[in-house]
Amino acid sequence: MMTRVQDRAKHIRTRASQGSDMADKRVLLIIGGGIAAYKSLELIRELKRCSISSRCILTEAAKQFITPMSVAALSGDTVHDALFSLTDETGGMGHIELSRAADLIVVCPATANLMAKAAHGLADDLACTTLLATDTDVLMAPAMNVRMWKHPATQANLETLRRRGVTVMDPDEGEMACGEYGPGRLPETSRITAEIFRALSR
Ligand SMILES: Cc1cc2nc3c(=O)[nH]c(=O)nc-3n(C[C@H](O)[C@H](O)[C@H](O)COP(=O)(O)O)c2cc1C
Repeated sequence: MMTRVQDRAKHIRTRASQGSDMADKRVLLIIGGGIAAYKSLELIRELKRCSISSRCILTEAAKQFITPMSVAALSGDTVHDALFSLTDETGGMGHIELSRAADLIVVCPATANLMAKAAHGLADDLACTTLLATDTDVLMAPAMNVRMWKHPATQANLETLRRRGVTVMDPDEGEMACGEYGPGRLPETSRITAEIFRALSR
């Protein structure tokens, strides 16, 4: 039987070998404004361990949950949050360049609002304008209250997004931050990372 140390060593070896395949891959991470936004920080670290760089967009709501400073410090890159940014739009890192410079766009956490905006083609902030202006593959990791997830509007948006080729992960099921129980929890970081590997290997 494998001890915990052997198990951990195997995990690190697997991750290192996956990481070498992934070296120099670039993810554009869109962080939505949900309670699970703090888990995107762990995702950035996990990707970095595998040599995958994350350039990040924070929505205005995301900034209520985590700070641009912690995202910048962990990603080692400038954080983008404004559509009408003179420096980004004229300095070559506007909404078009952000998506073109990425091998994959990951939305984590994908709020009900971001899913709705993407499904309906809205473009009123940097996050959803970038999603509309791209033909790069998009992976969404949703996280929201169980009623929001089960609402017919969200389910219709989910169906639309999947039909158009967006990979929308199924949320985890369990106790939520609001005390309710059901599907809607952000998938575990390891599950999101595995999905990112899968998408980047395609
Ligand atoms: C305390 C709190 C927690 C929230 N958590 C979530 C959440 O987990 N998922 C979600 O979809 N919306 C959540 N919301 C609502 C979003 O913040 C709101 O819909 C916001 O407009 C999302 O903006 P964005 O999609 O541009 O990031 C929460 C709101 C509050 C006040």
